[in-house]
Amino acid sequence: MAGGNLIKSVLPSSLVAIYPGSFDPITNGHLDLIARGSRMVGRLIVSVLRNQAKQPLFSVEERLEMLVEAVKPYGNVEVAAFDGLLVDYAASRGAVMIVRGIRAVSDYELEWQMALMNRRLMPEIETVFLMAGEEYSFISSHLVKEVAELGGNVSGLVPPLVEQRLKKRIAARNA
Ligand code: PNS
Repeated sequence: MAGGNLIKSVLPSSLVAIYPGSFDPITNGHLDLIARGSRMVGRLIVSVLRNQAKQPLFSVEERLEMLVEAVKPYGNVEVAAFDGLLVDYAASRGAVMIVRGIRAVSDYELEWQMALMNRRLMPEIETVFLMAGEEYSFISSHLVKEVAELGGNVSGLVPPLVEQRLKKRIAARNA
């Protein structure tokens, strides 16, 4: 990635950031963001929310397994799950930065609300928005699941392990 080494050399290696989300499942868009984030900070903690209202396709443990596999190339990235308020969790991990991805303008409103709520709750933690590569800008876990459920091809949209798991899960559900 162009500029990756330069940014790493000028940002402090003690910086810890949280990249929170549902990751149901991780997509190549998330992975691109992880690659970018990992070049900016000393440690990036990809964190899956446990107590979520949404009905997930994969359990938290399954999502963690897929994430662990996907982040293996990045030595400074770890995977974890959290409960409760994101800012409390971030503070408990020594993180001063929350990383979120922004795709189209439609992402902006919710992200803006969450960032300002998190700032109100804990002003010392900063939310930083990163943009995935344009080739990933249309990918979402939601759409990937919909396409996979309807028999479409999701290769190139998710890591290979996720593609396999999606096929298996959907076949089992339809059996
Ligand atoms: O991948 P998602 O579903 O867009 O991730 C949303 C997530 C997990 C980042 C968000 O729901 C969250 O941070 N939840 C933790 C609860 C919390 O802190 N809420 C108040 C501040 S927005």
